[in-house]
Amino acid sequence: MTIAVYGAGYVGLVSAVCFAHLGKRVVCVDVDEARVAALSQGQSPIHEDGLISLLSAQLASGRLSFTTDAIRACSESNIHVIATGTPSLDNGAADLSQVYAVVNILIEHSKAPGIIVLKSTVPIGSADEIASFVNQGLEARQKTHHLSVVSNPEFLREGSAVSDFLTASRIIVGGKPEAVSLLKAVYQPLIDQGSLFLSMSRVSAELSKYASNAMLACKISFINQISQLAQKTKANIDDIREAMSLDERIGPHFLSAGIGYGGSCFPKDVRALVQSSKSLGVDPSLLAAIDAVNEVQKTWGIVEMNRHFNHDLSGLKIGVWGVAFKPGTDDVREASSLSSIKAFLEAGAEIVVYDPIVDCQTLFAKTKGVSVAASSKDVLTAGIDALFIATEWPEFVNFPLSLLIDVSTFDGRNCFDLRAVAEAKLAHYYSVGRPKVVKGVIHEA
Ligand code: UDX
Repeated sequence: MTIAVYGAGYVGLVSAVCFAHLGKRVVCVDVDEARVAALSQGQSPIHEDGLISLLSAQLASGRLSFTTDAIRACSESNIHVIATGTPSLDNGAADLSQVYAVVNILIEHSKAPGIIVLKSTVPIGSADEIASFVNQGLEARQKTHHLSVVSNPEFLREGSAVSDFLTASRIIVGGKPEAVSLLKAVYQPLIDQGSLFLSMSRVSAELSKYASNAMLACKISFINQISQLAQKTKANIDDIREAMSLDERIGPHFLSAGIGYGGSCFPKDVRALVQSSKSLGVDPSLLAAIDAVNEVQKTWGIVEMNRHFNHDLSGLKIGVWGVAFKPGTDDVREASSLSSIKAFLEAGAEIVVYDPIVDCQTLFAKTKGVSVAASSKDVLTAGIDALFIATEWPEFVNFPLSLLIDVSTFDGRNCFDLRAVAEAKLAHYYSVGRPKVVKGVIHEA
């Protein structure tokens, strides 16, 4: 059994390395020659906990290899895992061109029966469409072997993708029973360790993935909307969250208010689900509201700064802590930090930015008005008028409050306990959905 994984991005690479770790022979294909060369040397293009050591071990075992030669990989394999990107088109729908590029290679060059495993997040109904497309393509070329399509969505979080893969709460596979069984055998070591295996129809598997991400995004937008009410009424979102989460039907997870969700999944998947709903004639109001609330939430920093500085940020220097869309990753896709930095610059402010792992020098090389500091402390000593916290990196959460006494702090991730802020007598401290603290006094209702 040889597995070909198409796409050495975040999902494909983690899956390839983990399948090899489970004892399978894996060839991982990518069109990017430099990426394939680096990976073959054990260098990862993404920052992911535990990935480098697993990558080196699997390369050394001889089970894992990387190539740009999709045709060779395809002709040598019987399990074809598609993990190419499905970026958003301008209208929010997912662009499937990379997926179909692989499918066309499989139709043209596969030599033996096998399965096509769709790991890329594709719109509802795509797997069925791809299955018909593959059948027709093989038939038209008078090929006698069959390639059965299964949907196998991933639920990997960036930063903990390797452990999420290897200790998955559930493995979902949609497709025909024989094809599902073949893939189940690949996952058997994880099932033996307690991961639940669910088989269903292809379309249910696709929708399960979207529904899970939309539900999580919905929880975030929900608490953010409540935080807007809390902020207006001088209530405290921490108290509200605790009160809500003690109801076990609600639970405590994904109810942290902040400056909105980002990353490669939630924004894209929620928008794609809105598009699918529209095209299926289903009213997408609730799904559309998740995205709309998130867009509003991303303006928290500029709104609060404007209020504090009487709507005049021109000539001010704003320090920014954190650029990554969340801690534990160097990914800045759809990061709320970037919308805030853009808004501050448009308002005439200068920016001094620091992130523990994002390569800010490269990221902001062409952005006028942004300079990069070497540490969180260096931001504070750069003559800033205000500090904006965009990512809750541990080094910020554990930062001594005594060093923030004189700087007006706008905490977009509620990194600090409000009582601790008051005790430390910070001059001005604003956070999301919580009362402001001025010179050690909490201005609560
Ligand atoms: C998400 C899903 O969790 C994962 O199952 C799916 O496969 C891919 O998308 P990821 O994008 O890595 O994973 O990040 P996640 O940890 O879910 O956080 C997403 C965003 O939500 C971040 O910007 C984070 O800051 C924000 N968030 C999360 C909140 O604002 N509040 C919360 O309570 C939780």
